[in-house]
Amino acid sequence: MRHLPKSVADPNLLVGLETSDDAGVYKINEETALVQTLDYFTPIVDDPYMFGQIGAANALSDVYAMGGKPITVMNIVGFPINTLDKSILADILAGAADKVRESGAVLVGGHSIDDQEPKFGLSVTGTVHPERVRANAGAQPGDRLILTKPIGVGILTTAIKKDLLNNDELNEVMNVMAELNKKAAESMEGYTVHACTDVTGFGLLGHTLEIAKGSRVGVTVSSKDVPVLSKTRELAEQNIIPGGTRKNHQWLAESIDYEPSVSEIDQLILCDAVTSGGLLISVPEGEAESLQQELKDNHVQSAIIGEVTSEKKGRIHVI
Ligand code: CO
Ligand code: CO
Repeated sequence: MRHLPKSVADPNLLVGLETSDDAGVYKINEETALVQTLDYFTPIVDDPYMFGQIGAANALSDVYAMGGKPITVMNIVGFPINTLDKSILADILAGAADKVRESGAVLVGGHSIDDQEPKFGLSVTGTVHPERVRANAGAQPGDRLILTKPIGVGILTTAIKKDLLNNDELNEVMNVMAELNKKAAESMEGYTVHACTDVTGFGLLGHTLEIAKGSRVGVTVSSKDVPVLSKTRELAEQNIIPGGTRKNHQWLAESIDYEPSVSEIDQLILCDAVTSGGLLISVPEGEAESLQQELKDNHVQSAIIGEVTSEKKGRIHVI
């Protein structure tokens, strides 16, 4: 996206391409702004119903990450019509439809093409009050960073392809990916959220860096406080690490200062490319604990994983 020419200045475009945000936000009137996003990918799990759920949860998440409420969705489908059983496609769509229903949004259409490999995702349109947009810019020194959902998804989904997970481990990671960020987003509503994003392909540290750069602040991440899915470390030590995670680790290196106590395995886990991850929320220190309690009351697990500083703007210090 960074290769696109900068769009023409429009005062109603509240969030555009400049800050690597999760979705575009366009003000319609004083009360309402549109939140628009689109995401799709190839299967990461074998179960087509689950793949549909995950694809939908992942696409809907970018609206939640802006503090918005999804209203309408459209399916985007690539499918090998002549070689795969059409019931597989029906199951993908059923999984997605169930998640869309849970979100409260309505499916209004979509588009499919014949494709060599299945692909699935959604375009999502939501709304948000123009003064309550949760963008990447806005984090302030002293804020605490709260993460919902554990990380390790990229490493675990790579292990799925190698058949290295037992049923419990497989279900754990699939359920994490299929969980909507709806309750997490609703929990933020009454709080002074300065910035928010969701953790996806660039990994926890990649998306943290978007906040650091977008907000022109420094961030300290406490590696021991980051929730990690069980078995992630064991797999990483066996070198089960996706290419995207290694790439993240490489390109992020110039913006991150790791304490010597943070091993290379720790670093790779923190950079692990995530599908349908949790929200990363920047709130004033005084509100962090009560937001955590609110999340807990809404059955969303969360952890305070770091803080925003005024030092080393646009950089991350991992301790
Ligand atoms: Co996002
Ligand atoms: Co996205």
